Amino acid sequence: MEIIIQPNAETASLIAARVIARVVREKPSAVLGLATGSTPLAMYRELARLHREDGLDFSGVATFNLDEYVGLPPEHPASYHAFMQEHFFRHVNVRPENIHIPDGLAPDIPAFCRSYEEAIRAAGGIDLQVLGIGSDGHIGFNEPSSSLASRTRIKTLTAQTRSDNAANFGSAEKVPIHVITMGVGTIMDARQVLILAFGEKKAEAVAAAVEGPITAMSPASILQMHPVAKCITDEGAAAKLTRTDYYRWVYDRKPGWQKV
Ligand code: GLP
Repeated sequence: MEIIIQPNAETASLIAARVIARVVREKPSAVLGLATGSTPLAMYRELARLHREDGLDFSGVATFNLDEYVGLPPEHPASYHAFMQEHFFRHVNVRPENIHIPDGLAPDIPAFCRSYEEAIRAAGGIDLQVLGIGSDGHIGFNEPSSSLASRTRIKTLTAQTRSDNAANFGSAEKVPIHVITMGVGTIMDARQVLILAFGEKKAEAVAAAVEGPITAMSPASILQMHPVAKCITDEGAAAKLTRTDYYRWVYDRKPGWQKV
């Protein structure tokens, strides 16, 4: 895994946006896997700016979001449908028919999950998957103990995740218990993965994912097996890593052609 430690979330987000912009410029029909949460907000802002000011064109791009709460209609303000419209889609030119987000209201959830996997395959697979990380090490909504080979399916949130996400709902009790999420195996099939983590609250999860053993108790740790994974953090989220000198040394000495 490539570890990129930045002074703050803002500079880290610019790098993430640049990586995505490069993929889209090289392949205008790129398939992007997208994430929600507070972490990717500045990255989406920068992508919107690149669209507005530099003409970054999303008209051929297809997107697949990681997850959605079961039972929330798309217009619910805390739904990931609403999040994506508000923070990304309404600012760029992704065609509505190319946007895919799990349907929290699907009447037959297993059938929906199979069709989501099929749609990803039919689109040619995900070129780049963006991820945040939960304070318990989850990616998407794959909580600790998730099968590392899992596909898109229903999951039950941990008490910790419901309390972490309480702000959007008013209280932890109001956070839905069930979600639909891409599986860990679905995420691992992406050709490139970008995981972002900001703030000291994420430091333990990042250390476990990057330097700990590969274990279902830290679903993000499976990214150690991904051939093209970048972990971009600020100083706070990097605070519990032990080899930071080496990671900084590597990043500062990248050959020009590898720089973003
Ligand atoms: C939720 C999302 C994850 C996200 C995580 C972290 O659980 N399903 O995709 O990575 O929260 O959220 P935040 O970025 O707000 O810390």
